[in-house]
Amino acid sequence: MPISFDSEHRVFKLDTATSSYVFEIYEQNYLLHLYYGAKIPDSNLSAHRYKGWFASHAPLNINIDDTQFSPDVSMFEYPCEGSGDFRETAFAIRNADGNNTTDLRYVSHKIYPGKPVIDGLPSLHVNSDSDADTLEILMRDAVTGVSAILYYTVFSGYGAMTRSVKIINESDKAVEIERVFSTCVDFNTHDYDMITLYGNWLRERNFERTPVKHIKQGIYSRRGLSSHAQNPFGAIVGKDTNEEYGSAYGFNLVYSGNFEFSCDSEPHGGIRVLMGINPDTFGWHLEPGDKFSSPEAVMVYSNEGLGGMSRTFHRLYTNHLIRGKWAHIKRPLLINNWEATGMDFTGDKLVTFAERAKELGIDMLVMDDGWFGKRDDDKSSLGDWQVNEEKLGGPLKDFIARINALGIKFGIWFEPEMISRDSNLYREHPDWCLHVPGREKSIARYQYVLDFSRKDVRDYIYSLMKDIIAENNIAYVKWDCNRSLSEVGSAILPPGRQKEVFHRFVLGTYEVMDRLTIDFPDLLIENCSSGGGRFDPGMLYFTPQIWCSDNTDPVDRIDIQFGTSLCYPASTVGAHVSASKRAGFGTKGNVALWGTFGYELDPNTFTPEDIDIIKDQVSEYHKYYDLIRNGDLYRLISPWESDRRAAWMMVSEDKNEALLTCVTMRKEWGEAFILKLRGLDPEKYYVDDTTGEVYSGALLMNAGLNLTDYPQNDGDSFKIYLRTL
Ligand code: GLA
Repeated sequence: MPISFDSEHRVFKLDTATSSYVFEIYEQNYLLHLYYGAKIPDSNLSAHRYKGWFASHAPLNINIDDTQFSPDVSMFEYPCEGSGDFRETAFAIRNADGNNTTDLRYVSHKIYPGKPVIDGLPSLHVNSDSDADTLEILMRDAVTGVSAILYYTVFSGYGAMTRSVKIINESDKAVEIERVFSTCVDFNTHDYDMITLYGNWLRERNFERTPVKHIKQGIYSRRGLSSHAQNPFGAIVGKDTNEEYGSAYGFNLVYSGNFEFSCDSEPHGGIRVLMGINPDTFGWHLEPGDKFSSPEAVMVYSNEGLGGMSRTFHRLYTNHLIRGKWAHIKRPLLINNWEATGMDFTGDKLVTFAERAKELGIDMLVMDDGWFGKRDDDKSSLGDWQVNEEKLGGPLKDFIARINALGIKFGIWFEPEMISRDSNLYREHPDWCLHVPGREKSIARYQYVLDFSRKDVRDYIYSLMKDIIAENNIAYVKWDCNRSLSEVGSAILPPGRQKEVFHRFVLGTYEVMDRLTIDFPDLLIENCSSGGGRFDPGMLYFTPQIWCSDNTDPVDRIDIQFGTSLCYPASTVGAHVSASKRAGFGTKGNVALWGTFGYELDPNTFTPEDIDIIKDQVSEYHKYYDLIRNGDLYRLISPWESDRRAAWMMVSEDKNEALLTCVTMRKEWGEAFILKLRGLDPEKYYVDDTTGEVYSGALLMNAGLNLTDYPQNDGDSFKIYLRTL
């Protein structure tokens, strides 16, 4: 049983493929955490209960005889504010008396097959009830009558579980939720490092590893979007954990707004890890009978280092996060005009793109920003989603018909949550954007943010989008979002509920995305936020791929894609060959192949040599499609460890195929290059598709391949495809 309850010792045990997660109902119905880590057979862990030494000033519970129990040091399953636990807590409500002392205790539980959905929020899904088991624990605060249901789901066959929380106000008075983290895990030592992914526009998801200290440390977003600055991912890893070995606890929040991932120190040596909505910018008014659901946190445990952790996230997301038609069928190979033309294009010009695309075997043309209103630069027209027929040389339908007549599908760009200051929509509805009374609104890229917490605003924008998509043969939408949220207020909420706007904005965006996926089940949607500013599992629930970065330089992209791969599978990573100069077409293709693959440049500029290379790339895209989308990733040389080379491998699940890619960033003069492969079957024999040489998996992984003679000047790259005999 993946989830069990030992009624004698009152212990819950959640066993994933790789881990055990154990907690108990202690005296006075406190829920105490006992263990999370590599799988163990035991369920009676009372001897393991945390007994830190605590000082005489630590609060005790006078109803409990155990003088070694103090809320000050105990490992709580869902710690509350104000009741003797002085660390960062997971939950606080401000009650009708005006204080925020909260104390949830166990009431009851149930265990059942399957997994419930979370109302209004994206979450992982099961394909049948046998895919997962769920534990629900009901807790209640005796004084206010507010209840919390803790949800835990264990996915069978994965070293993964999810957690979320639903708050129910069962009292007869309104309360304010001040903090409601999705997950909390107390560890009894602090011998760990923390790994996070920081960045900015054009340099998203850089790997950072810092020792866990006796301080509160962590990452957050307050931008309204999950953001370029920090990804809602964090890992707690052993000091000796590396790519292949050691324990790694990965946390990822299925949420696209303000989040926090933090690690607080407990004075006696333990740490508390929290992940959820950032409480700094959040509050929620709960009337009697109202409910509030937190986003879902995904927790992966691997004892095969960071590589094992990533592979678990990848498989889990491929099978239980990405939904709809495009989850498992082949995606179109596309060309996007943005980097080639910006907004300076005509319908005729784009038809030439489609003509060249056809000659090269590309499936789809995506018309990016600039096709609507009077948008010839980024100063105007967001919100005015009316086709600029002058630019396209006629109605959109006719223009698309010209593209389709070539056998090329058509995709289009939208930025639904935004409004330009210079737009008819803003002139008509200046109160439709986020704003606060009496203050000037900050402007970014000449645009404001629409108040997507408002249904009337969402309905208006969606009706325009829906008409355009329904009336035209549109196979793909790029959903962009190009600024952070500031002056976050809504004209229709009372002052006491303004703290809800950040979260309501996210819920509003999800609601529109949901409608889009329901109304157009065949549509492929690619998310984008000035590149990868909203690369998170919340978005992946609606859009199976995300434009990874506006930086398409292949050398820079290696860093960005390595960081992204820590948590997200290759099938989600929007990657295109562009006109960037730092490497030739070969390397640009090899790097983009580790993603959705496509082109982002003017195909009219291709030389005959370019065309030959691109035709080869297109056939490689088809040849390696399944291996790259569904294979297991092994990061062999990371840019975090070497500024000279990067190497990665995809290995098919049956271990019968593998594709190795190596890129030289800076030439290593005069040194042999021996590379030990990973993830192969030591018993099987593999043939190198190019040279015909045959090697055992054991040899490839232990003796390695001698790659010294392969091209290794700055910007060079090569691939080796291996398959079993
Ligand atoms: C953002 C996106 C780009 C492009 C432009 C259009 O920057 O990341 O890919 O779509 O917007 O304005």
